[in-house]
Amino acid sequence: MKAVSINEKGSLDNIRIEDVPKPIITPNKLLIKVKACGLNPVDWKGIELGFFEMPYVLGTDISGIVEEVGSETSKFSIGDEVIGSLEWSKQGAFAEYIISEEKYISKKPINLNFEEAAGVPLASLTAWQGLFDKLELKAGEKILIQAAAGGVGLFAIQFAKMIGAHVVAVASKKNEELVKSFGAEEVIDYTQVDLKTIANDFDAVFDSMATAPLLIPHIKHGGRYISITAKPDQELAEKHGVKASNFLFYSDPNQLDEIVGLIEKGKIKIILDQLFPLDEAKNALIFQKKGHSRGKNILLVG
Ligand SMILES: NC(=O)c1ccc[n+]([C@@H]2O[C@H](COP(=O)([O-])OP(=O)(O)OC[C@H]3O[C@@H](n4cnc5c(N)ncnc54)[C@H](OP(=O)(O)O)[C@@H]3O)[C@@H](O)[C@H]2O)c1
Repeated sequence: MKAVSINEKGSLDNIRIEDVPKPIITPNKLLIKVKACGLNPVDWKGIELGFFEMPYVLGTDISGIVEEVGSETSKFSIGDEVIGSLEWSKQGAFAEYIISEEKYISKKPINLNFEEAAGVPLASLTAWQGLFDKLELKAGEKILIQAAAGGVGLFAIQFAKMIGAHVVAVASKKNEELVKSFGAEEVIDYTQVDLKTIANDFDAVFDSMATAPLLIPHIKHGGRYISITAKPDQELAEKHGVKASNFLFYSDPNQLDEIVGLIEKGKIKIILDQLFPLDEAKNALIFQKKGHSRGKNILLVG
């Protein structure tokens, strides 16, 4: 089967489309025929910064069809349409077949096609965990969401709106209408507005741009700040009376099941930016790395 692998850290030029053996199912796993993969910044960062043990098959997010079920599994049947964010340390999504423990897998939303569904897992779980587990966002609170038109940002806007928060989105002018259509009440165009000059009354900030020094001073005393990239400066946070931290998402099928339910009820939507065939994985990562995606980019596999 075809897989996108990396043998040496450093350059996206090191990506190889290889013919590798189809994985063999074990009793505690599912064999899934992959239909599409969601791209995430970690896919190129992992190559350039060497996050994972080499060599490995790239990628975390898949949609696909269960082809075989291990004898110790119970949640899925052959033919089920599924999505998931695979075991973080192993990666392995960008391939025609994958095997996975069922704890990383959920049913695919019935109202999404495989391409749309592949864009859901990692980005939506990051937004969910950041807003609800970390910031403990509540109705009526005012939250600033950084990079709001990106993969994570568009989910974050929708989850925050869903619970009745007031959303201020940071996005460039070209994405103003998009983030408003997803529920943002206010938009700050970061290409025009100096973030040092924004209001000082935020209850919470969800930051995917490592802008803690600019944003923490604008959070109310007693407010919260979460970063999904760099660790915030604790001295700065203490000075402003703000609880601040960063975190790495984890693949939680219970949370993903809940998100799938919301998608099926039409409460959460997803938009795709670019679709690339599996053979074009390098170009896909180059596009993702530019950092100006609107929603999610997808690799088409099966
Ligand atoms: N900790 C975790 O578990 C976790 C999970 C997921 C992602 N992440 C990290 O979070 C970051 C965002 O991920 P993502 O998937 O949302 O990325 P993404 O989809 O590539 O984000 C693209 C968005 O970023 C916006 N953007 C670019 N430069 C900006 C700036 N200076 N200020 C504000 N917005 C800007 C772009 O808007 P314009 O086109 O309008 O410029 C675009 O809409 C990445 O660094 C990723 O590695 C961490």
